[in-house]
Amino acid sequence: MKICVLPGDGIGPEIIAEAVRVLQALAIGCEMEEGLLGGCAVDATGDPYPPATQALAQQADAVLLGAVGGPQWDNLPRAQRPERGLLGIRQQLGLFANLRPAILYPELANASSLKAEVVAGLDILIVRELTGDIYFGQPRGIEMRVVDGRQERFAFNTMHYSESEIRRIVRVAFEAARKRNRKLCSVDKMNVLETTQLWRDVANETAVEYPDVDLSHMLVDNAAMQLVRNPSQFDVLVTGNLFGDILSDEAAMLTGSIGMLPSASLDANNKGLYEPCHGSAPDIAGRGLANPLATILSAAMMLRYTFAQESAALRIENAVRKVLQQGYRTADIYEPGMQKVGTRAMGDAVLAAL
Ligand code: IPM
Ligand code: MG
Repeated sequence: MKICVLPGDGIGPEIIAEAVRVLQALAIGCEMEEGLLGGCAVDATGDPYPPATQALAQQADAVLLGAVGGPQWDNLPRAQRPERGLLGIRQQLGLFANLRPAILYPELANASSLKAEVVAGLDILIVRELTGDIYFGQPRGIEMRVVDGRQERFAFNTMHYSESEIRRIVRVAFEAARKRNRKLCSVDKMNVLETTQLWRDVANETAVEYPDVDLSHMLVDNAAMQLVRNPSQFDVLVTGNLFGDILSDEAAMLTGSIGMLPSASLDANNKGLYEPCHGSAPDIAGRGLANPLATILSAAMMLRYTFAQESAALRIENAVRKVLQQGYRTADIYEPGMQKVGTRAMGDAVLAAL
């Protein structure tokens, strides 16, 4: 079990440290090696995804990532932005299938901005395509163009999907639905965008292979609304890269805190990159305040998907449930009467629960 550990920027190193301690405590023989990705890599080498990290990531079976980015790198040329490191590793490793579960832990029902009865029992999985779409379209820098006889700034990105790119992610989603409640909702904008007309067509064609799964379609604007109106109608959602980025943040917030949500990004052979859904939170970085649970739960997903260690994954997930039951809360999920803890103390509590 060779794991490439990329703490990244902001709160990344703090939350990764806790996940690494959890993996070590399981004593199941993980070999971990650290590398640089994102802003820290730019500072050290000028490159957000330097060759040494590329080699490490390619040789590993799995990558465990903290988060990248921060305001100090905002003015860099696009190719050097920390986010490019993340996009680069996703693309280079072919991690097209991004799984983002949103689960409401009953103990955190009050942390949600929605009424407790709306989010009760929430358990949805967003399957986001991760290596195509407008994210990897033909980019053009901001340039000057003549528009209506006047020079003005102009920019464009292209949205594109091929049939095979759509089919493979839709299949991942059907397979996931099969292991859950057999309901799949495909999200597109086919009333406007040709790319997503193709998406819908391919989803319908693929459905023939999965007669046991109930496929429905929803336009993305309606899906955004339905997620806050009645999220329990969903089981598995599948969508493209851009829509998935937006809807997964929205779904995360239903659960009370994005600080709780893990993710897996998989290639065709279950090699994967595992990272929390949240970002680098520069505002609280280095202060020991961040919630490490999303990263710890990402390590559990790694054990499940890449290493097929289901029982070790469940041990971690049960330990996280237990610390919530015991009342431990980082600031993002704190409510009066609970035991407020920082990053390290939360890690300690999970280790004790393990
Ligand atoms: C995410 C993030 C990234 C994305 C950024 C940091 C490039 O928002 O993983 O959701 O847009 O994919
Ligand atoms: Mg995002």
